[in-house]
Formats: sequence, structure tokens, C-alpha cells
Amino acid sequence: MNYSIIFRKKYTFNDIIKYSKINGPTMFLLLWTIYQSYYYSKGFVIQQFFKLIRILTPINNQINNFKKDMANTFQQSPLTLYKIPNEGMNEKQIFNLINNLPKSKQDWKLGKISGTVYDGNNILSTLVNKVMTLYQWSNPLHPDLFPQIRQMEAEIVSFCLDLYKGKEDHCGTVTTGGTESIILACKTYRDYYKDRKGISNPEIIAPISVHVAFDKACHYLGIKLIKVKVNNNGIPLVSNIEKKINSQTICIVGSAPSFPHGVIDPLEEMGKLALKYDVGLHMDACLGGFVLPFLENNKYNFNINGLSSISLDTHKYGYGPKGGSVILYKSYDLIHYQYHVVTNWPGGIYISPSIPGSRSGAIIAGTWTSLLFHGKDGYRNKVNEIIELRDEIIDGLQDIPEIEIVGKPETTIVSIKCSNIIPENNIYSIHQHLTEKGWNLNSLQDPPALHICLTAIHCQQTEDLGKLFVKDINEALQFVRLNPNYEVTGMASIYGTTQSIPDKSIVKDLSYYYQDLYYKLN
Ligand SMILES: Cc1ncc(COP(=O)(O)O)c(C=O)c1O
Repeated sequence: MNYSIIFRKKYTFNDIIKYSKINGPTMFLLLWTIYQSYYYSKGFVIQQFFKLIRILTPINNQINNFKKDMANTFQQSPLTLYKIPNEGMNEKQIFNLINNLPKSKQDWKLGKISGTVYDGNNILSTLVNKVMTLYQWSNPLHPDLFPQIRQMEAEIVSFCLDLYKGKEDHCGTVTTGGTESIILACKTYRDYYKDRKGISNPEIIAPISVHVAFDKACHYLGIKLIKVKVNNNGIPLVSNIEKKINSQTICIVGSAPSFPHGVIDPLEEMGKLALKYDVGLHMDACLGGFVLPFLENNKYNFNINGLSSISLDTHKYGYGPKGGSVILYKSYDLIHYQYHVVTNWPGGIYISPSIPGSRSGAIIAGTWTSLLFHGKDGYRNKVNEIIELRDEIIDGLQDIPEIEIVGKPETTIVSIKCSNIIPENNIYSIHQHLTEKGWNLNSLQDPPALHICLTAIHCQQTEDLGKLFVKDINEALQFVRLNPNYEVTGMASIYGTTQSIPDKSIVKDLSYYYQDLYYKLN
């Protein structure tokens, strides 16, 4: 999440105790109550305790300070509009407003970013825009009016099935993004296993590194998400997954690769479990969907026994416009549980394949164009260039004793943390220095780390971004060595701070505050 919150001071549990100004016997009683309540009511009273402390103590003031600091998170132009004007605007007026909209301090086209925009080169952009304009007002909900879009959409699914060794009965749909593909996969397994096995309290098992879209999906769909810890290399033990399987399990999830560490879960072994216990296995290839098929000796496809669905995003390494992903299934039996049909609506018989009703045909046309523009050779070339850059970065980082790479980067992400010769939270100071040098990277937690997700944009720069990245890390480290007690601010610090605050509800409240601010004009 792109916070720009300034946490000025780190709070520890001791600080909270100190601030609460409670005397000895009362403290004993409180702690005993907390222990008992934690034991008997799954932390409900402990939450109330922390809520109370927040009202009573200077922590409340500190929270208010964070909120004040957040006030400037979003830039706003002085030409802010609160209502649509009574009189319509002409092109000149509209472009005048556009020119006055706020501008980012960082230019993503220079490549000092992580993921986000995967390629924006002019040739691709011009072609995709040209085709999208043709279908600007189209809506795939009406295939009779837009048969071109129907054909393009079916072809996109067919292209993806080809890349993932789909067989006769394999099928899929286009969606609006990774999160939608994941929500749909979870819904499909929930409804399929309700019908097939009568499962009424469905559970999904996934490594803790799985993308948060699964938390969202399970929250929306009333599914319990059971998370399995990962080792220092970011990989779960299959035996730990097996221990969690029970009569309510509907699906196991593995990432290829995972967002935090860019490592691939043991999908073949997970497939064996899926077959043994007759549950689904979903491979989340949202990130790596258009990387894996172009890696040498790739084995991550429907040839994995037990694999029943795959999500892969066209709007990432497919280099299509934002709002595109694909979900694939091993059978029509499964996909029918994704569709939604209402047969008795006065508005007519209504069937739709995914969550939206109306959709943009332009995105489908743009995606289809990007897939054809690249061809398999184009994708392979881009993947090879990215992997070369990744290996250059890995080589450079291996010479820095204070830095450790998390796991074995198998695709396009390099995730780093501090080795045990310096405090682990120093990675956030390093991150802050990289931000000051113009980088826009991702902070990670548990363990404290950061990652860079390499894309075609990194490879298209005249400057060698791999060398620059390693050089900037070295310089940041030099500063950290000389200033070990330096207090980080901004986004980097929120992670450092929250590692030491036991009450995560503070972070939740501040997150709500941040999200409210996003929609505020002032
Ligand atoms: C592994 C993985 N799965 C799912 C998603 C969610 O994709 P989206 O942001 O398109 O909803 C992401 C996004 O980065 C991802 O990396």
C-alpha cells in the first residue's frame, strides 16, 4: 500500500505499559484478565484493552499526529471541481484542467519502479490505443452487437490455454484483473464442493505469502482462509499444508511466483495432495502468467497432476491495458460454478461469466492486440532480457555481506532483507534512502524486506538500471553503517513501527483514514 504516513517514534509494548500509568496490583489484574480473555475469547478482551489504552493515553495524541501528517498524502491541483459544471466544457477547457492536474515527483517511464507498469513503449502504446479506440463504446454483454469482441475474448482464452498446455475439456474466461480471477476461483470451488460434497463451512489452505486477493475473496465469500507459514526461502512445507486438510477443505493454493519473494510454491507436491484428498488446486500465476511459459524447462502448467485452475494476468507481463486477466479451469464442470445465471428475472434470462455485468470491450481488444503484437517470440525475448537483468542484480548483491536475497528468485522479482550482521529493520532505512534517490519499491514485512519487480521498462533504459540499483543499495548501506540509530520516516517507517506495536488495529484505523482521504477534495 502506498502510504505516506510519518511515524516519528517507535512504540514498544513497554511504552504502552508506561503510558497507561497503571500501578502494580492493577497491572497484575489487567494482565491476568488479558491472559484469561485471550485464552477463552480469542483475543476479544485484549482488543478492548488496547482500545481503552488508545483513548486514555498519549498514544491517542500520537495517532492524531499521524493523521495530521497524512493530510498531505494526496496532491491536489488548485483547480479542483466539486460539481459538474452547468455548461459543458470544450476540448481546450478540458485539456487546461488536465494540464493542471497534480504531477508525480517520480516518472515511471524512467524505470526506477517495481512492477506497476510493465511496458509503456511508444510503438505498443500507439497500436493498442488505435485498436481500443475502434471498440471504445463496445460491451461484451451484447455479443450480437459486438461479435468482434466475442471472438477476440474467446481467442484470448484459447491463447492462454495453449500457453498452459490446456487439453480438450479445459476452458476459461477473461476477467478484469488478478483479484477478480481469484475471487471467481474461490467462488467456483466453494459452490462446486457444496454441491459435490455438501461442504457448508468451506476452507482454503494457502501459504502465508499468497496474494491478499485471497483474503479479500474469502472475506467476501464466507470462506475460511487457513495460512501456512513459509520457511526462510519463502516456501511452505507440504507436510504443513497436509496437516491443515480436513473434511471442509475445498482448495489448496500455490503461487507461481508469490508476490512478496518471487518464489514458486511446490505445486507438483501440492497437486499430489489435491488428488489424494479430492480437493481443488489453484495456481496463482497472476504475476508470472506471461513469464513462466517462456522460461527454459518450465513445468508449471496443466501437466501438473491435480492442478485444476490457473489465474494469469494479461495486464502485467502480457503488456495489455489495465483491467485484464484470465482464469482457466480443467473442466466445464468447474467453470459452470463460476457463471451466474438467473432464469426468472422479468428483465430476461441473464447469464454472465464473471463479476461485472457490462464490461469494456476496448480492454479486450487492447489485450488481444498486445498478445498478437508480441507473439511467443516477443514475450520470450522480453523474459530473457528481464532474467538477464535480474541475474546481474543478484550477482551485484551477493558481494554485499549485510544484504541477503530471500529464497531463490525464479522469475522477475528480487526480494532482499538484512543479513544477521545488522538489525533486520535497517532494511527500511535502506528503503527510505532508495526512495530519496528516486526509487519507488515495495516494502515487505515478516520478515522485514523489500523487493523490486523487474519489467520490460527496466530493460529499455539507456542507463544500466541493474548496476544503478546495486550502487544505490551500497550507498544507502554506507549511510546506515554510519548512522545506525537514524529514524526512518514516511512509508518506510510504517513497517518498522508496526513490527513493534502489538495492537495492529491502530494500523487498520490509519489505513481506513488513508482510504477516506483518497476520496476527499479539500
Ligand atoms: C501473485 C499475485 N496474485 C494476484 C495479484 C492481484 O492482481 P490485481 O492487482 O490485478 O488484482 C497480484 C498483484 O500483484 C499478484 O502479484
